[in-house]
Amino acid sequence: MVQRVRKAVLPVAGLGTRFLPATKAMPKEMLTVVDRPLIQYAVEECLQAGIEEFVFVSGRNKGALEDHFDHAYELETTLEQRKKAPELKETQAATIKPGNAIFTRQQKPLGLGHAVWCARHWIGREPFAVLLPDELTLDTPSCIGQLAAAHEKTGGSVVAVMDVPREQTKSYGIAAVKGEKDGLAEITGMVEKPKPEEAPSTLALIGRYVLLPEVFDHLDRHETGAGGEIQLTDAMARMIGNTPFHALRYAGRRYDCGSRLGFLEANVAISLDRQDTKAESRALIERLMKG
Ligand code: UTP
Repeated sequence: MVQRVRKAVLPVAGLGTRFLPATKAMPKEMLTVVDRPLIQYAVEECLQAGIEEFVFVSGRNKGALEDHFDHAYELETTLEQRKKAPELKETQAATIKPGNAIFTRQQKPLGLGHAVWCARHWIGREPFAVLLPDELTLDTPSCIGQLAAAHEKTGGSVVAVMDVPREQTKSYGIAAVKGEKDGLAEITGMVEKPKPEEAPSTLALIGRYVLLPEVFDHLDRHETGAGGEIQLTDAMARMIGNTPFHALRYAGRRYDCGSRLGFLEANVAISLDRQDTKAESRALIERLMKG
């Protein structure tokens, strides 16, 4: 019987150099899209999919992440006294059930593969999700929920992919696939950040994965790849042919919040979409566009 995905790894130990100096003392994953930090979108995406146990792999300056999902007694008491019920509700909703989150450290940012490997003891031998919180996806069912459902069909690993312009392949892990049916295709190869002329396709991995625990056996080797980092893509590539491995074409909204422009786009798009901010955001943007 195929095991259900219950746990998620959230790697949040990167340096976030593209957002310096904002990320000098604060993790990138605490950057705010409208009124909630990136990390909260990722946690909510998991909860929607019934994934309720979290392993945060953090680095230095990550204390704010831990505090964000805790109760904030002083703040909550003050909000209660001031009768700010909606604000109190939002604050209390941003918590994780007691005992359902663990924070471990990747002492050195040796790469995404190494960050995922740091979670191995907390995951054990079961399938698990990985979400890169700087990639924001919005859809119903959630992107990770779609992957978990595909895993229940295939019994193997499944990663979300999207087509990108060929000149951008050098920014992504790229998958070669065959036999696509209803958006699900078998993966035949995977390579991290290939040059456009060497890329096997333009299907980019977008930071959402459901993986079998066998990936840890490959990550154990600590082999470095593109950029001198221990790459998750390399470990996944070694699994192809040994265990089922599929790519699921993701068709929902996705914002690359690890880049300044993608982050700006997410803020604009989501504020234009939300009922409570829609009208005012539209008026503001129109006013700014008029110069
Ligand atoms: P990025 O490639 O976006 O790197 O990592 P980064 O360091 O966060 O940001 P830039 O490129 O310097 O601006 C993708 C994801 O992998 C995590 C990051 O926190 C992010 O969620 N990561 C990356 C780690 O946890 N550890 C690492 O060693 C590298």
